[in-house]
Amino acid sequence: MIRKTTLLALASCAVLSACSYQHSQSQSYSDTASGSHSEAHAKAEQHSASHTHSMQAGLDYHSYANPEQVALKHIDLDLNVNFDTKIMSGTAELTYTKVDPNADTLIVDTRDLTIEKITSYGEPVEFKLGEADENLGAPLAITLPKSGSSVVVHYHTSPEASGVQWLTPQQTAGKKHPFLFTQAQATHARSFIPLQDSPKVRVTYNATIRTPKSLLAVMSASNDPETPRDGEYHFKMPQPIPSYLIALGVGDLEFKPMGKRTGVYAEPSMLEAAAKEFEDTESMLIATEKRYGPYSWDRYDLLILPPSFPFGGMENPRLSFITPTVIAGDKSLVSLIAHELAHSWSGNTVTNATWRDLWLNEGFTTYLTYRIMEIVYGTERFDQEAVLGYQDLQADISALPEKDEVLAIDLRGRDPDDVFSNIPYEKGALFLREIEHAIGRDNFDAFLKNYFAHFAFQSITTDEFLAYLQETLLKQYPNKLNMQRINQWIFEAGVPEGAPQPESNAFEMVDTARNAWLNGEKAAMDIDTQKWTVHQWLYFLNNMPETLSAEQMQKLDAAFNLTQSHNNEIAHAWLMHVVKNWYEPALPRLHNYLVSIGRNKLVRPLYRELSKTPKGKALAKKAFEQAKAGYHPLTVKANEGYVN
Ligand code: BES
Ligand code: ZN
Repeated sequence: MIRKTTLLALASCAVLSACSYQHSQSQSYSDTASGSHSEAHAKAEQHSASHTHSMQAGLDYHSYANPEQVALKHIDLDLNVNFDTKIMSGTAELTYTKVDPNADTLIVDTRDLTIEKITSYGEPVEFKLGEADENLGAPLAITLPKSGSSVVVHYHTSPEASGVQWLTPQQTAGKKHPFLFTQAQATHARSFIPLQDSPKVRVTYNATIRTPKSLLAVMSASNDPETPRDGEYHFKMPQPIPSYLIALGVGDLEFKPMGKRTGVYAEPSMLEAAAKEFEDTESMLIATEKRYGPYSWDRYDLLILPPSFPFGGMENPRLSFITPTVIAGDKSLVSLIAHELAHSWSGNTVTNATWRDLWLNEGFTTYLTYRIMEIVYGTERFDQEAVLGYQDLQADISALPEKDEVLAIDLRGRDPDDVFSNIPYEKGALFLREIEHAIGRDNFDAFLKNYFAHFAFQSITTDEFLAYLQETLLKQYPNKLNMQRINQWIFEAGVPEGAPQPESNAFEMVDTARNAWLNGEKAAMDIDTQKWTVHQWLYFLNNMPETLSAEQMQKLDAAFNLTQSHNNEIAHAWLMHVVKNWYEPALPRLHNYLVSIGRNKLVRPLYRELSKTPKGKALAKKAFEQAKAGYHPLTVKANEGYVN
């Protein structure tokens, strides 16, 4: 079936000839499972060859913009944030250069924006807002003025903007002031700024943000911790960044330094706990610089968001946005910070050119995350996190269709938000670990350092990465690496045979304990869990059989008080069993969990599991109805299918 959205996109392409979406119908992947090794190799070659022919590498299928003709270079924002109407309004001055000297139209992306007028030196400029596509929004074609190199778009956002969440005071920690945050990745910057919303377009930006006087605004740009709270805030991002990294937060925020270059913004009641939990951020920064080259972004601060933040974290440059659900009190979940920090190299300095190449961002970042965690917290922790990541990957591989298991994924006609999985993360990281093992850790680190320097402030495709690899490591280590194998990793489903397999000694005793308990050889109470890490708990729970009896559930809960766990990851792992085995004593906790957390990775698997039975669905529906007003638009979109 051709999706309605595709047809709409094609229709609007007919109006705007520069649209790249028209390429979307030309290729289909073979779905056959790979057989023998050589057969797999043959297929890998065929895939890499065929994809270059029909799917144009580097074409962004998720933007209407025409950067090949006219490229956006700089944005000057002046926006007023109105919490009563849930509208941001003002101007975006777009500065461009003509790549094609004959070009006469600048095409930018929008979604649910109202364009009031467009001017150049005060004179009106002609424009046409195209038809809206469900996934892509609407193209805005601006006729370029005869002279000058910028236009001023006067516009306002919709209260339903997909990239903005407006929170009432009730939805914040302090309960007194409203809060706003944006989340632009993958294609949502266009819902609050008219711009060329493609990761291959890089812009610098300045912004003036006007808010109620009692609130502080922060952005993915220079933030002055000393700025007076006067309702008018100024920002500069002097390095060219892709649009998905433009971000704004507004709330009753305070700042606390954690180190020389690191600090945290949070609501006052969260500030101390956050600064304590993330106090190792400075060490992580220093460790990463030492291995992978200087940090290019001046300060590195964190913004702690309310619990409705739909992700764990978002690597907005100079200011990562972080879910409060990882403040566990024992630093057990701080790999998230290592991850967002690592994006300062892999992602923000070297960026994926299109969403097909997301694995270049997330795979490299996941690899670096493990390395940073090992340096700062030691090999035991590294081993445990690596095994858990590997198990997440295995779970996805058994659940996903093969076409979604390739690193360079075909996203034509699909919304990148709908294809979120562990593949770009954990498979990407495993691929890099294999190269590390083949050529040696120091050699691979040297390669990564050069890679980040070589492509600094550029957006690259998988194919450009492969060409670079061919010129560097493949030439240096011809006996240790080969392109067939690498193509298999990138263009084939699953994990190639012989890939590295993470192992942890700390998990062996957990397996032993779990088995002894399952076999009835040992009572839950008698398992010595005193010294277990959070990761051992997660491993213990994640590897329980799907089906547990009511009595077994009750015994576990009585021995370990799992229903009351304050660790959101442990609670999640336990609640999955609660749903699968319909363990009634924990249902109120489940309801409470679903209505108080909006992080999609934590709630979605629960909704999915609940939707499988009528009574589960009823619970899900009730929780969803109650929580919906407080969920982020992305979390609503990702879960509404499970409750209807
Ligand atoms: N950049 C991602 C979040 C993202 C990816 C948003 C794709 C939209 C589209 C961020 O760095 C991330 O990966 N977050 C993870 C962190 C985890 C893997 C440590 C998350 O939110 O769970
Ligand atoms: Zn990431």
